[in-house]
Amino acid sequence: TRAYVSGDMASVALGADEVVAALAVRGVEVVRTGSRGLFRIEPLVEIDTPEGRIAYGPVEANEIDAVLDGTHASRIGRIEDHPFFAPQQRFTFARCGVIDPLSLDDYAAHGGWQALDKARALTPQAVVDEVKASGLRGRGGAGFPTGIKWQTVLDTRSPEKFIVCNADEGDSGTFADRMLMEGDPFCLIEGMAIAAHAVGAGHGFIYIRSEYPFAIRVMQAAITRAAPRIAPFALEVRVGAGAYVCGEETALLDSIEGKRGQVRAKPPLPAIEGLFGRPTVINNVLSLAAVPFIVAEGAQAYQAVGFGRSRGTMPIQLAGNVRNGGLFEAGFGITLGELVNDIGGGTETGRPVKTVQVGGPLGAYFPPAMFDLPFDYEAFAAAGGLIGHAGITVFDDTVDMAHMARFAMEFCAHESCGKCTPCRIGAVRGMETIDRIVGGGRQPGGLEAMPQMRNAAARPRDRAAEIALLRDLCDTMKFGSLCALGGFTPYPVLSALDHFPQDFDQPATAQAAE
Ligand code: NAI
Ligand code: SF4
Repeated sequence: TRAYVSGDMASVALGADEVVAALAVRGVEVVRTGSRGLFRIEPLVEIDTPEGRIAYGPVEANEIDAVLDGTHASRIGRIEDHPFFAPQQRFTFARCGVIDPLSLDDYAAHGGWQALDKARALTPQAVVDEVKASGLRGRGGAGFPTGIKWQTVLDTRSPEKFIVCNADEGDSGTFADRMLMEGDPFCLIEGMAIAAHAVGAGHGFIYIRSEYPFAIRVMQAAITRAAPRIAPFALEVRVGAGAYVCGEETALLDSIEGKRGQVRAKPPLPAIEGLFGRPTVINNVLSLAAVPFIVAEGAQAYQAVGFGRSRGTMPIQLAGNVRNGGLFEAGFGITLGELVNDIGGGTETGRPVKTVQVGGPLGAYFPPAMFDLPFDYEAFAAAGGLIGHAGITVFDDTVDMAHMARFAMEFCAHESCGKCTPCRIGAVRGMETIDRIVGGGRQPGGLEAMPQMRNAAARPRDRAAEIALLRDLCDTMKFGSLCALGGFTPYPVLSALDHFPQDFDQPATAQAAE
């Protein structure tokens, strides 16, 4: 008998290793895969049968005999038929959860390297044109057209160019980069090797956050195995040290160069003067991992899916207080309501959904009244938000939005690189102002112990005037900050104020007692 069990960090956290040990004791051959991406059914065990891979999950280590004799109550059947997976369009994550992430044979048997071979037979310009025609936009969050970025690097003359993969994935509630690196690392390597051919780069770096020890291990092992296949392009992993701002591209480049991760003013764009002053393609994991599909299947196959100017698929991550937390890859255009209620199954607590935050800690909060919003860069921007890295964090009706607004300011103050005033000082003033709005009664951890915070909280002022001041401050941060950290912190604050004004109207103690 052969079984498949995920070795993904989330699966291991849920007990996958114990399940593997129980299978091994019974002489079952186990293939460790990546995760399929629905955490409620992890640890998931798939057994090879004449009808295909039959899944059971969640499975406890002491229930293995029932799995092996086919009587386990959590029998799912074929994963592809499960209601969470059947509607997905897995372009980027097609192999994740299916193959052994470190088997070159498995990768090749599932279409791996076809795109690299095809790309290397084309001129660099033809590869860039293909990526442009696919409509692929930066999946890190900003949505800048990937093909145009590559064109800039291709057109910039230099004796040396670099490909940098941003795998810092700092957004709360996101895990797609990690899942891809742990479940299908060769896909990212192939995407980077194609980018290298397209722009004429010889060397690449994957910058991974230190909080991802599994991804770091898997990527390093995968790079060693793939080195002959991607030569003369060479790759290495660099590990971050935990600063959120190092996900900002220029701070990330400084960090790779061995400096303190601080934001650089743009221009010059990294595409012209990036790593070590050389033209650099810097893309998110998901952007680079989308490229093998585009080159192998053709730009049209990718471009045909999507909504408006958002083409292709987006690996959406459902997190927070949601029943079906996990990764759902779908074409753009699916609505927020479908994602949260139909796919996500509502809250885990069973209470009504009060809000969702889309795009990480700098993303806007949306109330259920806006759940007909289609997943699309432009539609979200028009609604005062952003898709970001496509993390959706769900909250039930017990959440206090004034507290969440304050948390956004607190997060910004904590993570600010300190380079510019609206962010470094504005975030602290923002916390103080929100404390005054809610009557100074709130003590939600973190920086509140600072002396100036206590003074500010003690000074009562007119609430309407304080709210006007907070809006004014948000305006200054939005337009005066050097990077997205200070510039986007107003999104959660203003959306909380706009959609949930009642949460700012009453002292925290009164609300908690409700
Ligand atoms: P940006 O709009 O300044 O730039 C987007 C990208 O396009 C950059 O790589 C930039 O260098 C490039 N670019 C712009 N014009 C170009 C041109 N003419 N030629 C070549 N390249 C060009 O946005 P930024 O500040 O890089 O990213 C902000 C986004 O990051 C936000 O939308 C936010 O959602 C996201 N974000 C993602 C996080 C994550 O964990 N993935 C965490 C925090 C923020
Ligand atoms: Fe640094 Fe904040 Fe300014 Fe960004 S906005 S450069 S994180 S101080």
